[in-house]
Amino acid sequence: MITRRGFVGRAAAVATAAGLKLPVWAKAFPLPPGGLRASVAEARAERPLLLGVDYYPDQTPEKLWEEDARMIAEAGLTNVRVAEFAWGLMEPAEGKFDFAWLRRSVEILHKHGIAVILGTPSAAPPPWLSSKYPEILLVNKDGVTLAPGGRRFTCPTNRTYRRLSLGIATEMAKAFANTLGVIGWQIDNEYTLQPHARCYCKFCREGFADWLKAKYGSLEKLNEKWGTVFWSQTYTDWRQIPVPLPSNGEPNPGLALDYDRYQSYACASSAEEQLAMLRRECPKHFVTTNQVGAPLDTLNLREMYRNMDFVSSDNYPGFAQVFMPALASPEVMATMIGLGHDSMRSVKGGKPFLVMEEQAGKAGQSFFAPQPHPGQLRLWVFQAVAHGAMGVNYFRWDSARFGAEEYWFGMLNHDRSKSIGFEEMVRTVQELKSLGREALESGYVAETAVSFDHDSSWALAVQPGNSKLSYMAQLTAWYGSVAGANTGTDVIHLDEDLAHYKAVFAPVQYVVSEKQADNIQRYVQGGGTFVAGFRLGVKNESSQIVNAPLPGLLRDVMGVSVKDPVPVYTEKIAVRFLPQLAGPDAPCVLWADLLKPESATVMATYTGAYEGDAAITVNSFGKGKAVYVGADLDPQSLARVLRTVLAMSGSTSSIEAPRGVELTRRRAGEKEWIFVLNHTPTEQKINLAGKFSAVVGNGPSKETLTLRAYDLAVLQRG
Ligand code: GLA
Ligand code: ZN
Repeated sequence: MITRRGFVGRAAAVATAAGLKLPVWAKAFPLPPGGLRASVAEARAERPLLLGVDYYPDQTPEKLWEEDARMIAEAGLTNVRVAEFAWGLMEPAEGKFDFAWLRRSVEILHKHGIAVILGTPSAAPPPWLSSKYPEILLVNKDGVTLAPGGRRFTCPTNRTYRRLSLGIATEMAKAFANTLGVIGWQIDNEYTLQPHARCYCKFCREGFADWLKAKYGSLEKLNEKWGTVFWSQTYTDWRQIPVPLPSNGEPNPGLALDYDRYQSYACASSAEEQLAMLRRECPKHFVTTNQVGAPLDTLNLREMYRNMDFVSSDNYPGFAQVFMPALASPEVMATMIGLGHDSMRSVKGGKPFLVMEEQAGKAGQSFFAPQPHPGQLRLWVFQAVAHGAMGVNYFRWDSARFGAEEYWFGMLNHDRSKSIGFEEMVRTVQELKSLGREALESGYVAETAVSFDHDSSWALAVQPGNSKLSYMAQLTAWYGSVAGANTGTDVIHLDEDLAHYKAVFAPVQYVVSEKQADNIQRYVQGGGTFVAGFRLGVKNESSQIVNAPLPGLLRDVMGVSVKDPVPVYTEKIAVRFLPQLAGPDAPCVLWADLLKPESATVMATYTGAYEGDAAITVNSFGKGKAVYVGADLDPQSLARVLRTVLAMSGSTSSIEAPRGVELTRRRAGEKEWIFVLNHTPTEQKINLAGKFSAVVGNGPSKETLTLRAYDLAVLQRG
């Protein structure tokens, strides 16, 4: 028998074993008595592929629901997600519940063969709740209490908010546990979406103290781990411990890092409360929650998804155009989207994830990005699938004529005519169906991994060393360099199993635990290539500086010590490469770790003030190699260096692709699908040695695949 949790485990197993899968929500989606119209019979025959749309019956006159359901079905979509912002309609007054409207909507959708994912509505509590219980409001990092009226304005610790969130979710679950058509749940909405990412209220302060008590056991231990003797901060009572609000001086680094961990835990444990309830009430349904797809360091998602069935993420490339125009070239955007997908897929060890919201057109709130170019809506969906998505929901069905997101365009325009991109979306859905379940649930092939370490990011944010140094910027640059080689990249934690990667990259791994150090050592010993950036192993898990020459616990494996760590501001320092890394001298931008080789050999040196000191080294250790990139390089030089090292590790793509053309592979048993995606606005030609046939798009002719602007192909060998 397939258990709920077993399903996703199986989905991963599907990566290596072909065969029929009958996942749990098939049970929740049986054929209704009395048969079906032929057009919907097919959709109902087994559980739907998760190809859907985010739908808002709560914002739509009821007389249009039937037409909506019919059109959604005609568009070839097989599911919707509903109700994640409808708390006020479902609980119009405390303890008074009304699900009749939602039930009518679900019934209409089901009649048209559309399955339903229900959202629990905790991301936006209604006014009666915030008026009656103003203590639920989030207090931001400046100590300002947020006002209600937006969303996510709540404290993740507050018991009243959590009790009421669980209350409405429980009533929903009881109401819909056995409703035909309902297949699963999205808990809350985008815990990661937080311009005010942390709460500093008195409840969080109490929650933090409890969490610390459980973690450290005694104040003595806490005082020692944080080094509270500095500035006379020794705590003699748990209730004295503050939260890091402004205090005319930087917070204790150990306290600050633990506070980030606590806030992440508070969100995860709040989701976990709803999850436990849904497991009890709705054993037939899957449970997930959606996150902002772009990689954000607000939460440790591994903690949040530990017991959920699969990861869901939201994909809005248009935001890059609006908010990061400098980065919005199609190629760079493609890399950033890829990083989002790779980090989401990697949260549950590579299991297929769901895009819960996918840009459907012009996108934004106060400002909006223009309509994507013809082909891009299709390209971005295929990119998600290329990176391991098992399905996609477009955001949203219609375009709201009221509320904060009037300028977020759905599949229908404001006047309910079909959007400019409508037919492209319909075609995309058809193509995904033709690709089939086996491909959509296959595994993503990754030869390399990039570390994304929250502890390092959080600790570095408190003490960047150089005011311009940003963990996320370094992560993006390193990921871009590595992923551009098209050999497949996971985004991992360094205490996970590394053995199957040819190379593992760790930009600014500022905090290194003993477990991670052992793992890295074992990996290199066994033949892996470990590549680390500057500021390696500076701190332990308490955010104290290690009591050893840097890179601390990794000194042996790296075969170097850091002679001096140098933040670079106005000084002109350059890096000169030895023949192995051949290339013109590169500027050293924000940081220079001056390296002293112990057993390592030198691959690059500094020029200028630090003439002759080593900048990049490589060490043979066991059967593998460890490379230390001590200098912060410009993007081109970084890409060249990391790709050279990647090639040294034996990881090379068998297909050469022009810049802006992305290649990924998904595999199930003997079968492999190769996704070729042209992110550029011009035609591209890709040389393919050997025989390939196209499953989607045009195939190659005479060993050359020609892709028009924003076009793609999915190929199989032979
Ligand atoms: C997010 C949210 C949605 C909606 C879209 C568009 O991803 O989950 O509710 O706000 O963005 O802004
Ligand atoms: Zn709080």
